[in-house]
Amino acid sequence: MKKAETVKIAPSILSADFGHLADDLKKIESEADFLHIDVMDGHYVPNISFGIPIVQCIRPLSELPFDVHLMITNPLDFIRPFAAAGADLITIHIETVEDPKSAIRKIHDLGVKAGISIHPDTDIQAIFPYLADIDLVLIMSVYPGFGGQSFMTASLDRIHAVREELDRIGSSALISVDGGISEKTAPAVIAAGATLLVAGSSVFGKEDPEEAIRILKQCAGL
Ligand code: DX5
Ligand code: ZN
Repeated sequence: MKKAETVKIAPSILSADFGHLADDLKKIESEADFLHIDVMDGHYVPNISFGIPIVQCIRPLSELPFDVHLMITNPLDFIRPFAAAGADLITIHIETVEDPKSAIRKIHDLGVKAGISIHPDTDIQAIFPYLADIDLVLIMSVYPGFGGQSFMTASLDRIHAVREELDRIGSSALISVDGGISEKTAPAVIAAGATLLVAGSSVFGKEDPEEAIRILKQCAGL
C-alpha cells in the first residue's frame, strides 16, 4: 500500500469561475500539485466544456503540471494540439481507443505523460494490460460529464484492485480518482490506494480554495 504522504491534489477547473479563471488559478497555485483540465465533446459525454484555446491561454498563468482529461470520442486527433498547448499529462478513456498501447505510445512520443481513464461501467480489468505502460490511471468515481455529482462507493473496490495490480507489477503509476471527492470521501479513497485526488466542487466551490486543498491533504495525514 502506498504511504499517505504520496497523495497529491489536482483541482479541476471545471468548477472554477470561467469569467475569472486567472483569479481562480491564483487561488490554488501554491497548494495544488496538478491542474486538472476536463475536456468534453458533447459526444463521449453529454456535456461540452472547453478546448485547446483555453489550455493555451491559461498555460502562462500557472506553473502547475497540466493534467488534461480528454472525455472525447476521438482523442488521437487531439493529443498533438493539446500537447502543443501545454499539457504535461494527457489522459484518454480506454473506451475511446481501439488500440490503447498504440495510443499510449503516441502520447509518449510527444514528450507527454500518458494516462488511461476508465468509465464506472467498464470492467476494471480492461485496463490491467496497459498498467505497465502508463504514468497514471484515472478511475472515474462518477459518470463522466459533470462536476458536483456524488461519489460512487463501488469505486473503492476498483481503486483497491488497481492498487494491488500496480503493486504486483511494481509500477509507480499514479492512481487518480475523479468525481465526488471531498473531505468526507477522501479518507476511504486514499485508504483504497489512490495517490492523486481530483477535486472540482470541493475546491473551487469553497470560499477559500487554498484552505479546501489543505483540508483534503489533511485527509491523507499530510
Ligand atoms: C467529471 C470530471 C471531473 C469533475 C469532478 O466528468 O471528469 O473532473 O470536474 O468534479 P467534482 O469534484 O465536483 O465531482
Ligand atoms: Zn476529470
